[in-house]
Amino acid sequence: MTILITTPNGTVGRHLTEALRERDDVRYLVRSAAAAEALGEVAGEVVRGDASDTADVRKALAGVDRLYLAHPFGEQQIAAEGNFALSAAEAGVRRVVKLGARCFTGDGFVQDAVTGAHEVITGRLRDAGVPELTVLSPDRFLQNFLPAAAAIADGTLADPAGPGARGYVDVRDIAEVAAAELLAERPVGGEIEISGRRALTLPELADRFGSALGRPVRHVDVPLDDAWRAGLTERGVTPWVIDGLHGLYANYRHEGVAGLGDGVQRVLGRLPRSAEDFASEVLVRAARR
Ligand SMILES: NC(=O)c1ccc[n+]([C@@H]2O[C@H](COP(=O)([O-])OP(=O)(O)OC[C@H]3O[C@@H](n4cnc5c(N)ncnc54)[C@H](OP(=O)(O)O)[C@@H]3O)[C@@H](O)[C@H]2O)c1
Repeated sequence: MTILITTPNGTVGRHLTEALRERDDVRYLVRSAAAAEALGEVAGEVVRGDASDTADVRKALAGVDRLYLAHPFGEQQIAAEGNFALSAAEAGVRRVVKLGARCFTGDGFVQDAVTGAHEVITGRLRDAGVPELTVLSPDRFLQNFLPAAAAIADGTLADPAGPGARGYVDVRDIAEVAAAELLAERPVGGEIEISGRRALTLPELADRFGSALGRPVRHVDVPLDDAWRAGLTERGVTPWVIDGLHGLYANYRHEGVAGLGDGVQRVLGRLPRSAEDFASEVLVRAARR
């Protein structure tokens, strides 16, 4: 058996790499020597290639039985993951575990490019006839807050996702579910919705972060206005991606994803990690750096 891991240094992928590091039947796709070095020592094989390049994708997939497929949101995502869908079927890949996102359902939601991309890619994987398809559909990642760890440690959790409670998920749980689905003789398969232990509003999340950090943390709403756009533009985010994020956050602000996914319980037979676990085990360390 050979398992191909895309985005092995990604937010979810790095934890999957950690889980598979000792196995010699795993292949990791990276774009550069620096990314190969960032992986650290692995028993498997590291191959160079770009997901947007069909020849690279075909080469990476040669002899592969199982594939973990992920890609950042962006202009190239559908082309890159679509490349994998077609080439995986051609290469005889038996199982694909795709990282998607929980979708918005009900009235008043706009079509947003982030969840829309996952629908298109999942459709392509189904059309390609991959025999065993698992689509992981997680809620918002708790790890999204790590780049703002210093500001949170200073007492402010600024975020544009609005007032609704949602099941913020620790990506370590997503990686464990992905590993279980990749390695199982019989995967659970189908769509697996993954949430954290309970639904929390941003002020509730800020409270939990504050408890772990030993100081009050206050949630500050960030409106989706020109200043928000300008801030992202300054950080090099393209107008296309900003529009996509605008649609996504508008949906969160409208209501968000209803209820909690039970994927961790179904696949791993345990409760998901809590926001408190994340705050004390991950955020506190990031805030000290
Ligand atoms: N953030 C959330 O709250 C959230 C919630 C639900 C679902 N999701 C979904 O999660 C997915 C992203 O997963 P993630 O956050 O784990 O990934 P990620 O951290 O965004 O992935 C980054 C990695 O992708 C690699 N990469 C980028 N372009 C590439 C290309 N053309 N070819 C090969 N590798 C490439 C980069 O490799 P290099 O090291 O070479 O740069 C980098 O290591 C998105 O589809 C998003 O919709 C996110």
